[in-house]
Amino acid sequence: MYCNIRKWRLSDAADLAETLSNKNLQDNLRDGLPFPYTEKDGLQYINAMLSADKNNTFAFAVTIDDKAIGSISVFRQGNIHRLTAELGYYIAQNYWGKGIMTQAVKQICEYVFNNTDIVRIYAEPFAYNSASCRVLEKAGFQYEGLLKQNAIKNDKVIDMKMYALIKAQT
Ligand SMILES: CC(C)(COP(=O)(O)OP(=O)(O)OC[C@H]1O[C@@H](n2cnc3c(N)ncnc32)[C@H](O)[C@@H]1OP(=O)(O)O)[C@@H](O)C(=O)NCCC(=O)NCCS
Repeated sequence: MYCNIRKWRLSDAADLAETLSNKNLQDNLRDGLPFPYTEKDGLQYINAMLSADKNNTFAFAVTIDDKAIGSISVFRQGNIHRLTAELGYYIAQNYWGKGIMTQAVKQICEYVFNNTDIVRIYAEPFAYNSASCRVLEKAGFQYEGLLKQNAIKNDKVIDMKMYALIKAQT
C-alpha cells in the first residue's frame, strides 16, 4: 500500500478527528490532545499547521488515495539545537502494520534534508512502543540510547528511546 505526504487541508479535519479519537493510539503519544478529538479540534490543528513558520514546522497529512489517514511532522528546535528537529507521527489503527509509516518517515526526512539546513532529525518513542522503534530502524535511524524514567504516561513512569537520522555529509 503506497502512501504520500501532502499539505494539510481544512477538509481533512473529520478524518483527523476519527483517527485521534482512539485511546490505543493516544496511549503512545504525549498528553494534551483532547479525547475524544472532535472535527473542531482537527480544524484548529490544521489551521495552526497551515499558518506555522515555514522555516521551523514541517507538518503533513499522511494519505492513501488522497485521504488523510495520519499525520507526520518535523519541528525545528531552538537556540543551540536550531539545526536539529523532532519527528512525530501516527496513523489510524486500521492502517497499522502495512508499512505505511515507514514510507512516510523516509519521505519527510528526505524532504527536510533536501530543503532545509537541518542536519539531525530525532524521535523519542516510549521504550515499549516496539512498532514505532521498528519504523525508525527501517527508515535508517540509529538507536542512540535509553532515556530512563524520562516520562510519565497514564500514571506510570516510563523509559523512552532516542533515535536519530543524521544528514549525510557531502
Ligand atoms: C507506530 C505506528 C506509527 C507504526 O506505523 P505502521 O504504518 O503500522 O508501521 P509499519 O507498518 O511501517 O512498521 C511497523 C513495524 O513494527 C512491527 N511491529 C508492529 N507491532 C509490533 C510489536 N508489538 N512488537 C514488535 N514489532 C511490532 C511490524 O511488524 C513492522 O515491522 P516489520 O516490517 O519488520 O514487520 C502506528 O502503529 C501508530 O500510529 N501508533 C500509534 C501512535 C504512535 O505510536 N506514534 C509514534 C509515537 S513515537
